Amino acid sequence: MSEDKKQVISPESPVETQAQNLTDSEQARLDRPKLSDWLELRLGWWGFVRKNLDEQMPAGVSWWQTLGNLLMTLLAFQFITGIALSMYYSSGPESAHASVKHINEGFISNIPIFGSINWGLAVRGIHVYGSSVLVCVTVLHILRVFFWGSYKKPRELTWLVGVLIFFVMLGFSFTGYLLPWDQKAYWATTVGTNMAGTIPGIGDSMLILIRGGSEVGSLTLTRFYAAHVMILPAALIILTALHLYLVRKHHIAGPVLPQKGATVPFWPNQLFKDAVVVFFGVGIVIYLAAVNPPGLEGVANPTGTDLVPRPEWYYLGLYEMLKIMPAGWELMATLIIPGIVSVGMILLPWLDKSKSRHPAMRQWIIISGTAIILMIGLMTLKGYLETPVHGEEGHGPAVEGQAAPDGEAEH
Ligand code: HEM
Repeated sequence: MSEDKKQVISPESPVETQAQNLTDSEQARLDRPKLSDWLELRLGWWGFVRKNLDEQMPAGVSWWQTLGNLLMTLLAFQFITGIALSMYYSSGPESAHASVKHINEGFISNIPIFGSINWGLAVRGIHVYGSSVLVCVTVLHILRVFFWGSYKKPRELTWLVGVLIFFVMLGFSFTGYLLPWDQKAYWATTVGTNMAGTIPGIGDSMLILIRGGSEVGSLTLTRFYAAHVMILPAALIILTALHLYLVRKHHIAGPVLPQKGATVPFWPNQLFKDAVVVFFGVGIVIYLAAVNPPGLEGVANPTGTDLVPRPEWYYLGLYEMLKIMPAGWELMATLIIPGIVSVGMILLPWLDKSKSRHPAMRQWIIISGTAIILMIGLMTLKGYLETPVHGEEGHGPAVEGQAAPDGEAEH
């Protein structure tokens, strides 16, 4: 393209031309635009794509900065598989378990080169393992931002919105866990919601608000479904859009000590790294769903005894803490310690007053943060090793009205 022609075509939009100096072909293109040109003139999408591809990255950005885009891809998978599941799921206590059983067993097709594929189970598997991998990647992303000190001025709000996203994600898994309405779902939700009931003063009202009654029942299921498919997705979309806007506005912080060298555009090097990480991240989810598809236990039975509730693995630390608390100290595990950690996360950018992002210059923040991370990690590991697998008997934290499981675990 000649230098003269470059001036005619706007860099923001290849078809947005100035009125004068048009060549015949450009005039013809404006008179009879292709669909892509027509859309470009109205949406300016190419300018948007270009702006993001040309985004300048500070020298020294690494593989650690790929986690945010992996999160976006995993989120897209969660939304797509979640919408597909919601087309077959029924949220009543009489039909929820049967509808998930149908999803698990009712969509098998034979494809000559792949053999038989159980599509319902595959989609459910991607959704179930996707949520676990999403939590792992979110934790890695948080750790990266924490150790890099990337939450400091002017990125305090980027961090704050991120913390809210993290809470919303925990809400997604808590509400989603009940939906199959099997034994593990029922009892894990009973223990989880009991925790809310321990809050002094408002505990009983909170319990009724969350459960829709005094026990986990049909209203709890309807309420959790509404939160899982309406309230939380709406919150997540708004918060993620705000997060990405803030990330773009303030750009990536780069290494803790600025490195010498010119900035580099996002395309092609960083995009290549992102693509590799996305490929492996999504690959892990599909692999897990294929080798160990999610099962379904017997239908929820509120009168069962001796079943040890086993929550999702990322709640095991909290659950373990509740188990080891001496009688009368439960509030420490249900409210005080989780509350201090949550408020600490929210206030982190304001608690850390050091000017430098280097870990050596923020010693007390790094030491206390590492101690909390180790504590959560060890408690989770202890919970993982000590809580029996689903359907087994054992001694979990006290659950009101526990009764025997109704039937064997099905797969
Ligand atoms: C849906 C979940 C999330 C998505 C899609 C997301 C996306 C992103 C992306 C694309 C970036 C830029 C690339 C990178 O640094 O990896 C980023 C940076 C950042 N994220 Fe997230 N994020 C999410 C959750 C979180 C959470 C839970 C936190 C903190 C609690 C957080 C805090 C930050 C901060 C402070 C930055 C700026 C880092 C810097 O400038 O170096 N994000 N995020």
